[in-house]
Amino acid sequence: MSKFGLIGKNISYSFSKAHFTAKFENEELPYTYQNFDIEDISKVPEILKQETDIVGLNVTIPYKEQIIPYIDSLHRTAEKIGAVNTIKFYPSGKTKGFNTDYYGFTKSIEPFLKSHHKKALILGTGGASKAIAYALKKLKIRFEYVSRSPNPKAAYVYADLTEDIINAHQVIINCTPIGTHPKVNECPDIPYDGITKTHLLFDLIYNPTQTKFLMCGEIQGAAICNGSKMLEYQAEKAWEIWTK
Ligand SMILES: NC(=O)c1ccc[n+]([C@@H]2O[C@H](COP(=O)([O-])OP(=O)(O)OC[C@H]3O[C@@H](n4cnc5c(N)ncnc54)[C@H](OP(=O)(O)O)[C@@H]3O)[C@@H](O)[C@H]2O)c1
Repeated sequence: MSKFGLIGKNISYSFSKAHFTAKFENEELPYTYQNFDIEDISKVPEILKQETDIVGLNVTIPYKEQIIPYIDSLHRTAEKIGAVNTIKFYPSGKTKGFNTDYYGFTKSIEPFLKSHHKKALILGTGGASKAIAYALKKLKIRFEYVSRSPNPKAAYVYADLTEDIINAHQVIINCTPIGTHPKVNECPDIPYDGITKTHLLFDLIYNPTQTKFLMCGEIQGAAICNGSKMLEYQAEKAWEIWTK
């Protein structure tokens, strides 16, 4: 039986397994979906050797970048982004890496974008932020990174942020895990008073559905969007890649 799965760490509550298992049941497809919860990326060759019937894999935190050396080739978008969240296995045994986070984010933010949304702040500089930066470039939205510590990539650390800087960036995207269940009372440390009703706040987090970050934006009158649709769109795209 053909097998799909997810490579990650501490993934017992992952969206992907529940999503694809339900899909296979509803559509009466003869497939299974398994979590490969590994302590270290070096375990990957072992999995690939043992699991000869794998057709497709999702990849999640913290391996989206570390997985690259284990894949035979990369789709050009994944190569440009520098992160892979979907692997396709060909009958020849060769593997190819794709990034569907880029697609999921673009498709979910597009309905919210207005003509004045020209500059963005990306909070966090981790794996997910790379796909977001690539998507913003394609959408012709200029952006700056905000990080906890000074680094060449980030224009700002959180302490630099003023209400004026917030005001000058009408799109703010949370690419950090701050506010994820169970730590729902936490949020990125930005001056929320600078947010106006013309801002758009996007949170990649989907659990809880409304993070404190989004609540603080909504109080200021901003448009808000969580990561649920992004998650569904990236999964849909992965399915399309595996089955086409
Ligand atoms: N909805 C979706 O489809 C989707 C897809 C991908 C990811 N996600 C979510 O997006 C979030 C980020 O994913 P990721 O893979 O990029 O995660 P990550 O690598 O663990 O963290 C991202 C960045 O967040 C910052 N950060 C981490 N811990 C922090 C803390 N305690 N306080 C402040 N900043 C902190 C760090 O940037 P600095 O060191 O620069 O501060 C880090 O590089 C996760 O919550 C993930 O679940 C959602």
